[in-house]
Amino acid sequence: MSLLNQRRLLLVVSDEPAASETIVIARLLARAGARVGIHEVPSAARWFGTAALEQLLVEGLAVERVAASWEADALLVLGGEQARQAWQARRAELPLVEAPEAGKFPATRWLLPCLLRTLAQSPWKSLRLLVTAGPTVEHFDAVRFLSNPSSGKMGYALAEAAWIAGAEVMLVSGPTAIETPWGVRRVDVTSAQEMREAVLAERHDVVFMAAAVSDYRPVERRVGKVKKGVGPWTLEMERTPDILAELSASALRPDLLIGFAAETHDIERYALEKLRAKSLDGIVANDVGAGGAFGSDSNCVQCYDGAGGAVSFGPAEKREIAAAIVAWAEGCLARKR
Ligand code: C5P
Repeated sequence: MSLLNQRRLLLVVSDEPAASETIVIARLLARAGARVGIHEVPSAARWFGTAALEQLLVEGLAVERVAASWEADALLVLGGEQARQAWQARRAELPLVEAPEAGKFPATRWLLPCLLRTLAQSPWKSLRLLVTAGPTVEHFDAVRFLSNPSSGKMGYALAEAAWIAGAEVMLVSGPTAIETPWGVRRVDVTSAQEMREAVLAERHDVVFMAAAVSDYRPVERRVGKVKKGVGPWTLEMERTPDILAELSASALRPDLLIGFAAETHDIERYALEKLRAKSLDGIVANDVGAGGAFGSDSNCVQCYDGAGGAVSFGPAEKREIAAAIVAWAEGCLARKR
């Protein structure tokens, strides 16, 4: 089944700058499975030429030129704010896709997430959701640190899936090399201590703690770069704050608190121990033994809820796993409320 599965999109081209984007957008939509109706103002081949439309038809895409009254599932207006408002009033029965100003960002970044969020009929709408992602980095001098190989991909995919489902998403991220998902507010942190402060700064309705937080940090951070000597260097380490346990016990505890567990063996036993020890509503466990999960684009997870239920998802792309985790969490939230 394709992503947009025959959904009908009315694409209004309201000015000339927007017209140049039309073909790119119509192609992206149709390739994702949508049926696209293009309506130009004032309907003419002046901006978006007949040749461009014919090209799309040659590619076998479901795109046609339509009247303003064309029956659709959603409305996307390319052009200025005034045009958007006028069309929103004119086709008030249609959900309006929240698109950025024409040409400001490449359509490949915003189009599908914005559209899927518009079409989502989900209880996540307007819920405040927090995701932690990536590793933490614990310095012991200006250039040396302890960390782990977490890429942040799973957490970023979750933030994206939750935003698409309708939530207002804040992503607290350790150092990663990934682009922020569209619509998501990102706060960058380095150490476990900084992550703790960001997480405990405000209350959220739902929290996913997907970050691979360092369990230990050097007791001392030396100033500047320490010159290397000939002998060994012994570091004294201390535990970092357990952010998840602290959040769980605090007044800021969200309605739904989901932890993650990365294990190399006895996955179920350790995951359930964590679920109970940190009083969570659910835990997502993955096997990081034998090179799995860390840094990879795909994953396989087991999800356990507080009521004794267990489901597994994957192996699949982390994006797909993320959508499945969000749907699973939706069930957990419904049972709690
Ligand atoms: O106990 P363990 O570290 O295996 O638990 C993993 C879960 O706890 C993850 O959700 C992780 O984000 C969170 N965690 C945390 N603070 C720590 C260590 C782990 O929030 N210091």
